[in-house]
This record gives sequence, C-alpha cells and structure tokens, in this order.
Amino acid sequence: MNILITGCNGQLGTEMRLLSASHPLHTYFFTDVQELDITNREAIRSFVQEHAIDLIVNCAAYTNVDKAEEDELTARLINAQAVENLGAVGAKIIHISTDYVFSGDEHVPCREEDSVAPRTAYGRTKLEGEQLLLAVCPDSIIFRTAWLYSPFGNNFVKTMLHYGQERDELRVVFDQIGTPTYAADLAVAIFAAIESPEWHAGIYHFTNEGVCSWFDFTVEILRQAGVQCKVTPILSSEYQYKTPRPHYSVLDKSKIKRTFGISIPYWTDGLSRCLSHLK
Ligand SMILES: NC(=O)c1ccc[n+]([C@@H]2O[C@H](COP(=O)([O-])OP(=O)(O)OC[C@H]3O[C@@H](n4cnc5c(N)ncnc54)[C@H](OP(=O)(O)O)[C@@H]3O)[C@@H](O)[C@H]2O)c1
Repeated sequence: MNILITGCNGQLGTEMRLLSASHPLHTYFFTDVQELDITNREAIRSFVQEHAIDLIVNCAAYTNVDKAEEDELTARLINAQAVENLGAVGAKIIHISTDYVFSGDEHVPCREEDSVAPRTAYGRTKLEGEQLLLAVCPDSIIFRTAWLYSPFGNNFVKTMLHYGQERDELRVVFDQIGTPTYAADLAVAIFAAIESPEWHAGIYHFTNEGVCSWFDFTVEILRQAGVQCKVTPILSSEYQYKTPRPHYSVLDKSKIKRTFGISIPYWTDGLSRCLSHLK
C-alpha cells in the first residue's frame, strides 16, 4: 500500500515513522504542515492522486487545549474541516481523536458508544472532526486516545522531568484520573489495524492499560528516572487551569483488543521504555 502519514513531526507521527521501518512492505509518504497543509483541500487531493495513496493515517492536529479555547476557529479548521478534507479524497483513513469528546464526569471506563459531551473547544473541534469524517467516509477507522507522551515534542513526562530536576517540590492534581499512553504503543496498535486481514471500520479506544492520577503518574516518572523531588497531591480546585480538565477519562479498550487481537502494555511499562529512549 501507499500510505500517507500526516503530522509526521508530532509525537505520534514520529513514532509512526520509526515503526514504519519494521513494516517495509508499504511505501510511506511522511508530511507535516510544511509539505502538506491538511487544511488545503486541493493540495490534499493532488497529493493523494499524484502518489496513488491507498491509506491516510492522520496524526496532524491542533493539540494545544488552552490555545484552542482562545482560537476555536483555527482549532476547528485543523481538527474538523481538514479531517473532512482528508476523508473526502477516496483513500482509506485512520484518524486519531481524544478522550476530550467525553464530559469527564463518568465513573466507569468510557466505551465507544457512550454519550459524548465535550467541555472544551479542543474537545468540541475533535468531536466535529469525528462526525464530519464519518459523514463523508463511513468506512473510516477512528482511534480515540488520551494522555499521550513520547520522547519527542512537549508532553507531561518531559515537563515533570524538567521541573523535578529544577525544584524541591511539585504540586500535582490527584483528582483527575485517566491512563497515560506511550505514543510508540499507539503506533503498534495502528499498524495492527493497517495489517489486519480485514478492514474493521469504526471507533476504537486505545490507551495503555491501568489507571492513575496525574499525581501518581508524576511520582512514577520521577521514581523511574531516579529524580529526587517531593511530590504533593493537590485538588484541581487548588490549581489555576485556563481550561477545565476531565475528572475521569479512563477509556474502555475491550473493543480494540477483541477486534485486532492485540495485548496492551501496562502504563508503567510504557513509561519505562519511553524513559530509556530519553536517556
Ligand atoms: N497529546 C495528547 O495528550 C493527546 C491526547 C489525546 C488525543 N491526542 C490526539 O492524538 C493525535 C496525535 O497527537 P500528538 O500529541 O502526536 O500531536 P502533536 O505532537 O501536536 O503533533 C501534531 C502535528 O500536526 C502538525 N500540524 C498542525 N497543523 C497542521 C496542518 N494544518 N497540516 C499538517 N500538519 C499540521 C503539527 O505541526 P505544528 O507543531 O507545527 O503545529 C504537529 O507536527 C492528535 O489527533 C491528537 O488530537 C493527543
């Protein structure tokens, strides 16, 4: 297959590029905004035609949750309208979405068919992207993920390592519960869908296994990295968030495991592999 990977300089895009070396049967085209701006409908159409693209993996997105609140128009252009553009060119598509489509008020892991109710501009635009994509290309695969990190780009793991080395104490919320996702493990799951003998259209949830709070995540990051720093649990109400954050956004992964026959690493295991790459 000829596979186009958009947003290839981001966390997930970089992991897809690295993993593609282990899947040499396909021909890959890696693009980021400089080579192919996904908001440019005509540019996408001619790129897909020129390179006879069979499959698009859309790793491009507007991911800054706080900035999206101030500039929802741009977030919508990239997270929604551009996704419709990608879905309309006749190639198969695997698109990535987010736990932010849910309200965050749940108490049990969210399943794919559960009601959505985004509370942020980022979540609204990502949900719109899902809906526009499914309208124009019902045969799409959508992976919703959460708490993504990798050795590349900016993310929670790198931020906590940085501040943990600089400060005596970190105060981190313990009333927001979710599951970290190592982008390399998500890339493995995406390749399982690509190489599945049958194309299984639909929405799937993927994170690493297990559950923790941001406080627990921080304690484990510093413990595994051998960084000495006191970590104090605080409530969300004690932290000045610009944008509301979900209190509970654990995703139920039964469907993806059942459909693609994958087993998913536990979150502390993903973290240790990421930290060994960072060293
Ligand atoms: N990060 C998380 O915690 C998280 C959680 C849940 C779901 N997700 C979803 O997972 C996916 C991958 O996230 P990620 O963390 O890998 O994202 P990322 O690191 O922010 O990478 C996104 C990439 O897309 C590029 N991009 C932005 N606008 C573009 C455009 N118009 N055309 C082409 N490329 C463009 C970005 O370039 P610039 O950097 O130059 O803008 C960046 O290289 C996204 O769909 C995201 O919504 C992420």
